[in-house]
Amino acid sequence: MARKYFVEAFGCQMSFHDSERVAGLLEQSGYEPAAAVEAADLVVVNTCSVRERAEEKLYSRLGEIRELTAGRETPPIIAVTGCVAQQEGAALIRHDPAIDVVAGTQALTQLPALVERRLAERRPAIDVHPYEDVSFPLGMVRHSDPVRAWVTIIEGCNEFCSFCVVPYTRGHERMRPVADIVAEVRAAAASGHREVQLLGQIVNHYQAPDDPSCDFAALLERVAQVPGLARIRFASPHPRHVTDRLLAAIRDVPAVCKHLHLPVQSGSDAVLRAMRRRYTRDEYLTLVDRAREVVPGLSISTDMIVGFPGETVADFELTLDLVRRARFQAMYSFKYSPRPNTLAMKRLADDVTEGEKTRRIVALQRLQAEIQIAWHRVAVGSTVEVLVEGPSRRRAWELTGRTTGHTVVNFAGPMAWVGQLVPVQITSAEPHSLRGEAIAAGAMAEEAGHAR
Ligand code: SF4
Ligand code: F3S
Repeated sequence: MARKYFVEAFGCQMSFHDSERVAGLLEQSGYEPAAAVEAADLVVVNTCSVRERAEEKLYSRLGEIRELTAGRETPPIIAVTGCVAQQEGAALIRHDPAIDVVAGTQALTQLPALVERRLAERRPAIDVHPYEDVSFPLGMVRHSDPVRAWVTIIEGCNEFCSFCVVPYTRGHERMRPVADIVAEVRAAAASGHREVQLLGQIVNHYQAPDDPSCDFAALLERVAQVPGLARIRFASPHPRHVTDRLLAAIRDVPAVCKHLHLPVQSGSDAVLRAMRRRYTRDEYLTLVDRAREVVPGLSISTDMIVGFPGETVADFELTLDLVRRARFQAMYSFKYSPRPNTLAMKRLADDVTEGEKTRRIVALQRLQAEIQIAWHRVAVGSTVEVLVEGPSRRRAWELTGRTTGHTVVNFAGPMAWVGQLVPVQITSAEPHSLRGEAIAAGAMAEEAGHAR
């Protein structure tokens, strides 16, 4: 009987995509998916290190997994992968000897072999080696979403922002050949995916190692030529590398979504300097204006950190001021917490109290909520094109999807529309989404067009 695996995923899109890769690799090696941890012979915990106490949370989850599988004749093999695995390596096993396998972010493809080694040698198998190779066998990813496919274009990062653990967990920046990327996008489109999301720590730093003429804007143009694709997204660009050429590609290539996720992190120059972001608030605000000028209707979202070491009340006021000026369509905000190995952890005191961090994040989120609902109210009465992703989470009889600007839209319609571009008239605004009514004739036309 085939061995069964179960993958638990934490972290960013790249981490979830790694879980899809792990699933594909294991299935290629003869495993079958298990419906739950309890039924698995191999449990893979794919970890993220970006939040506070990531290691403790991992150990407590491993304890829960042991409880769930207690009493079984043969306990499951436990493998820890991802950013905490890369960061901690053998220390994980010293802390929790029940861990069988540790595979770092660059050793994912070794996972099936590491499990075999663990079984043969009856001792833990560890690989956190920094492999250079970023290729991944074509056709092996097990895409978990029928509509959207993630495709990695860059792994690692050389920026070393002072708060960020990623250069330590993902290694230095490595570019994937454009030929591999386009082949994977073709395969995803051929298997019915309508949207691809290109992933990398700094996507707009892309420069094809196999074609000197292919930068990130050219990559978007090439990916857009793949038949069957309705939309192309990417995450995340770095503000320092947004060029007019990239903005023109976003404007001119119809499949490229009119959305730019542009992490700013702070509105204070002093804090940006301490974060080593290498742009000023004025440069950032100028870029936001320029982007909206070049790409009419562009939606801009951001990431923000509050309570970075040394952030004063005046610095935080500058962050609020930047948010008022930039009027982001969406924001992901976080309270600063020191992460292992980072410059901020080594050199700066975490001197903003927890209570003050909470006060700041509440104020920031309240401001963003006002801006966001104002954007949503402006959309009421307009017709937007929605790529339908599936049933809505809250109301199973409704469909959910996103606009080109990444806003969630819920509306009534048949499940047959999943994967279709449907024109929807917006009827009401909610804090995190829009509601509307499908203009059915348009949906039918798109469906016919897609079938051709
Ligand atoms: Fe981290 Fe900065 Fe690299 Fe982004 S650009 S992954 S925040 S080091
Ligand atoms: Fe992603 Fe978390 Fe690693 S955000 S890159 S999984 S530290």
